[in-house]
Amino acid sequence: MTQDTRRKLRSEAWFGRQDRDGFIYRSWVKNRGVPHDQFDGRPVIGICNTWSELTPCNTHFRVIADHVKAGVLEAGGFPLEFPVMSLGETLLRPTAMMFRNLASMDVEESIRSNPIDGVILLVGCDKTTPSLVMGASSVDIPAIAVSGGPMLSGKWRGQDIGSGTGVWAMSEEVRAGNMSMEAFNEAESCMHRSHGHCMTMGTASTMASMVEALGIGMPDNAAIPAVDARRNVLARMAGRRIVEMVKEDLRLSKILTRGAFDNAIRALAAIGGSTNAVIHLVAIAGRIGVNLGLDDFDRIGSELPCLVNLQPSGKYLMEDFYYAGGLPAVLRELGENGALDRDVLTVNGRTQWENVKEAPCYNREVILPFAKPFKAAAGIAVLKGNLAPDGAVIKPSAATPSLMRHRGRAVVFENIEDFYAKIDDEALDVDETCVLVLKNCGPKGYPGMAECGNMPLPPKVLRRGVTDMVRVSDARMSGTAYGTVVLHAAPEAAAGGPLALVRDGDMIELDVAARRLHLDVGDAELARRRADWQGPPKHRDRGYWRLYVDRVLQANQGADFDFLVGGSGDFVPRDNH
Ligand code: FES
Repeated sequence: MTQDTRRKLRSEAWFGRQDRDGFIYRSWVKNRGVPHDQFDGRPVIGICNTWSELTPCNTHFRVIADHVKAGVLEAGGFPLEFPVMSLGETLLRPTAMMFRNLASMDVEESIRSNPIDGVILLVGCDKTTPSLVMGASSVDIPAIAVSGGPMLSGKWRGQDIGSGTGVWAMSEEVRAGNMSMEAFNEAESCMHRSHGHCMTMGTASTMASMVEALGIGMPDNAAIPAVDARRNVLARMAGRRIVEMVKEDLRLSKILTRGAFDNAIRALAAIGGSTNAVIHLVAIAGRIGVNLGLDDFDRIGSELPCLVNLQPSGKYLMEDFYYAGGLPAVLRELGENGALDRDVLTVNGRTQWENVKEAPCYNREVILPFAKPFKAAAGIAVLKGNLAPDGAVIKPSAATPSLMRHRGRAVVFENIEDFYAKIDDEALDVDETCVLVLKNCGPKGYPGMAECGNMPLPPKVLRRGVTDMVRVSDARMSGTAYGTVVLHAAPEAAAGGPLALVRDGDMIELDVAARRLHLDVGDAELARRRADWQGPPKHRDRGYWRLYVDRVLQANQGADFDFLVGGSGDFVPRDNH
């Protein structure tokens, strides 16, 4: 492409000007030694960085950004790195989820308001992926998501231990009296031993896989370990490729099509991925104008098998997954069995099928064939009934088969404080046949929809060797967690959903095969309870907390803000002086 014939890029509205404002736009950028020829109309590539020491999973992102920059320069682009709000899952209170929409606004406005023609999104820890993809989708310029990669496998006393999953399992062992605090503390230093995000198929690995399945990440984006040199090569190749994408005007909306989301739903089933992906995919689809609902997950994904033997549904970790062939090997299995839209375009300019049709699998213990899967019909199931009229979800691959059909007495906790005050009390009237019900942990209620749906079991139940019970809430659960856990009940209790009306002793019926979640209380009694119901008090009534509680949508709608659904494109109407 020559200087004379190339398409005018949006950055030229800043850097291509021969006037006072052009002077301003270029001159300050030159203050770190940028030569004048960088403003000759070449693609300007933003590198949207979520590096932060408060986000431990993303602390290697300065290095990754440098590799992206090298790739951009090699391809003749002009890289400009910028920071956005970084969401660390382990430190942020009350939840990182509460700030996902805020970060997405930061990303959207940072991209649109700056002279950026294409963008690399550096994503890693759970919420950094959806927040960046949501924001970029609302601008709709060419973009590639580059994940930071999973940590190396945890190693403790001769065994592999997985992020999160090991914490949940070992803390229950401590509570049951089967594990010493000394051993527990030792494991703390052995679990996370390299850069990268959680190395189970938790939310971060799931969302990195979603990025790859959607086609907005490069092949192998999900599984290359963070410290593997090939992770840096992938970043560099993405840097080269985004320059070409700008020249091709290959925008997100050309990749994030209905077929791409269908593929993501199928891949979510095949990897036994996190329930959090349901909320994030619905939110991303809303930004790019694809109509995606909870029922699509059930219709497209629930009958598909889980093909990977990875924690929390199975045994292995992301490092094993990469060496076995990673997501391309899984997508190939789906494609060979009629469960992949083969023709959707991906960021490398090839179709998804062209990317994966010859992908090898090196270990059939980790990635199993479609014909002999790890778990059959394992996709996320969507439950309906008078306890969740707008839906709730359960992850069958991480549940106990014998509990998938269950009727039990409700043991109710009004909020998370009530739960922690009672659960260890030996006098609590509970046994393993009961259904634990947790209220007021949804988007508005917590606020920010905490990952506490996988409630720890009562010690007296644990001591009998019981490891799972049916649990129902409007909360989420960590992608690293497991159990027969019904999540995301909508509408949530704090919004007046039926969950708010459950009382101790009510009978609850779960029937996953029939997709049913039923509160066995008559309509007249429920109406009486509703008349008495008062919403929970607000924790804070100003600033972002207020905005969040006032405008957040329910889980089945992606928990985005009502005013953020959709996009505003890349146009900015005015100069700044
Ligand atoms: Fe960051 Fe798990 S805490 S990915």
